[in-house]
Amino acid sequence: MIRSHAEFIQANGSSWENGPDSHPPRRRIRGIRHRNPPSVQSKPVVLITGASSGIGRACAEYLHSRGYCVYGTSRKAQEDVAAPGGFRMIEMDVTEEESVQRGVQLVLTREGVLDVVLNNAGDGVAGAVEDTSIEEARQQFETNFFGALRVCRAVLPAMRRRGSGLIVNVSSLGGLVALPFQGLYSASKFALEGMTEALRMEVRPHGVRVALLEPGDFHTGFTSAGRAARDAPRGVYRQRFLNALAAMERDESGGADPQLVARTLERIIVARAPRLRYKVGAWTQRFAAGWLRKVLPQRLFERLMMASYGVG
Ligand SMILES: NC(=O)c1ccc[n+]([C@@H]2O[C@H](COP(=O)([O-])OP(=O)(O)OC[C@H]3O[C@@H](n4cnc5c(N)ncnc54)[C@H](OP(=O)(O)O)[C@@H]3O)[C@@H](O)[C@H]2O)c1
Repeated sequence: MIRSHAEFIQANGSSWENGPDSHPPRRRIRGIRHRNPPSVQSKPVVLITGASSGIGRACAEYLHSRGYCVYGTSRKAQEDVAAPGGFRMIEMDVTEEESVQRGVQLVLTREGVLDVVLNNAGDGVAGAVEDTSIEEARQQFETNFFGALRVCRAVLPAMRRRGSGLIVNVSSLGGLVALPFQGLYSASKFALEGMTEALRMEVRPHGVRVALLEPGDFHTGFTSAGRAARDAPRGVYRQRFLNALAAMERDESGGADPQLVARTLERIIVARAPRLRYKVGAWTQRFAAGWLRKVLPQRLFERLMMASYGVG
């Protein structure tokens, strides 16, 4: 009996050079291990939330082109249709428990297994902390934090039973360094970072690996899909909020190609022991959120951040 993708490929002599529908090469999927026999599905099965645009879509198209069996989600998808990029699209709203359970069950019923989950669905509310209502803050957490938590809880029983699986949660460099006038967005990603760090230790003995992807600025639909807190354009913070908003739009429209995130995701998938954190994006941003943040006195770091957002 074939017990793993690696053994399947060894047994079938499948080669990566066979084109998009060929199986990923053995060395490339060494990270995916199975203690129990997998299903009839011979390609690693990947679920990507928020695959209708931006980073999620780039990851779904890229992994599909690399031979993975990819299911993407969107709140607007028809039930189980092929997306233009070739992967399957299913309907899922990560803020709805029932919707998450239904989507995950659909993939498990169809494929028998779920090897990789990318918790990517997310949005952003911009505005001063004081101008953001509790309801707006809750909505932010519903998608970015509780949404990822719901999906983790839905997929973990099957992954644990099988003794294998990988969960990658999409955070942000703004989940390491708080961004002015994106305080609630940063807070939701800080929360995601904390949960992911704990989850990683809890599930490791069960064969499930967990990692964080921390993008800097990427050219996606994020800013246009983003919301401003209702009271943000009014009141005492108005001008500095507008400056910050202009900086966000400038940084995102000049941001990197989301393909970069897709390639990093594949590196995580094939890693035998993925790290906790993978920063991805312009080196200046990775440097600022990593090294600079650690070595600079806090006040000096804040001054630099405020200057770069035009809110000094
Ligand atoms: N772009 C950046 O510069 C950047 C930087 C750091 C981190 N990130 C993170 O990367 C992730 C993807 O962002 P993006 O830039 O690719 O943004 P995007 O182009 O706006 O895509 C967001 C995706 O999330 C989905 N989504 C939003 N709310 C959802 C919900 N409640 N349930 C299910 N799906 C939902 C959207 O799908 P539907 O609307 O079709 O449902 C869409 O496919 C987010 O977690 C974001 O925080 C982005």
